[in-house]
Amino acid sequence: MIKIEHLSYQYSNGEQGINDISVEINPSTTLAILGPNGSGKSTFLKCLMGILKPQSGSISISNQNIDKLSITQRSKYIGFVFQDPREQLFNFTIEQEIRFALRTRKDQEDIEAKLDAILELCSLTQHRSKHPYDVSMAQQKFILIGCALGMNQDIIIMDEPTSGMDHQSIKQLAKIVEFLKKEKKTIIIVSHDLNFVSEHFEHVMIINHHHCIYQGTFKEACRRENVLNQGEYELPDIARLSLKARNSLCTTHQEWIELWTKK
Ligand SMILES: Nc1ncnc2c1ncn2[C@@H]1O[C@H](COP(=O)(O)OP(=O)(O)O)[C@@H](O)[C@H]1O
Ligand SMILES: [Mg+2]
Repeated sequence: MIKIEHLSYQYSNGEQGINDISVEINPSTTLAILGPNGSGKSTFLKCLMGILKPQSGSISISNQNIDKLSITQRSKYIGFVFQDPREQLFNFTIEQEIRFALRTRKDQEDIEAKLDAILELCSLTQHRSKHPYDVSMAQQKFILIGCALGMNQDIIIMDEPTSGMDHQSIKQLAKIVEFLKKEKKTIIIVSHDLNFVSEHFEHVMIINHHHCIYQGTFKEACRRENVLNQGEYELPDIARLSLKARNSLCTTHQEWIELWTKK
């Protein structure tokens, strides 16, 4: 479990990043962080990663306090996909990038098979010999997810992965997210795409003005009037449709199908 207590971060110019955020994230949770621009979402993720050192509060993973651990030490547990993935890519080919991640594993068995499986899952097989800068930004994000799989990190954090992605890439990302869920990974994302969040993420945390104003299931956030509004969001399409058509709240396509097929 990730336990975050009273976390606050203020930038050196006096700007408040986050203010007194506490949250507990169970293993294998899918959590989407929502909130208006400038509310503190990226600051929160950077504190979790160890890129920023919070002035107060603490973070522990599986009861081990990680406040003093460096980014590298934290990378044993946490994989991160930045908004600009190029900042994290440094090898000459996509294949080398994933091999580099695989090399950090304790078990070095079947490395070639693991490499091929990761490239396939991330739809990168045909691009494996290319330089990471020669593929799209969406594909660069998939390389980084591939690296997290290579390192076998349990927690995968992505800051606005869907922003700037076309429909096809979002579908690809959805496929990868569903795979990560089957692997029981903890997935934490920031996203403004509520249709994507609704379909694939069970929990949400809404940050507004640097504070956490809601944490709980996405369904409950949809049920409670004003919760999504406070984060300046509207109900996802599927929730709106199902409420209007059958006065029942669906947040996934599966629920929508069940709604119309149950007797
Ligand atoms: N490098 C920085 N220096 C100073 N202030 C910053 C910096 N990065 C972010 N901030 C401020 O911190 C607050 C939270 O920003 P951020 O975490 O990036 O928000 P979000 O990701 O929700 O859009 C904003 O008021 C922003 O202006
Ligand atoms: Mg941000």
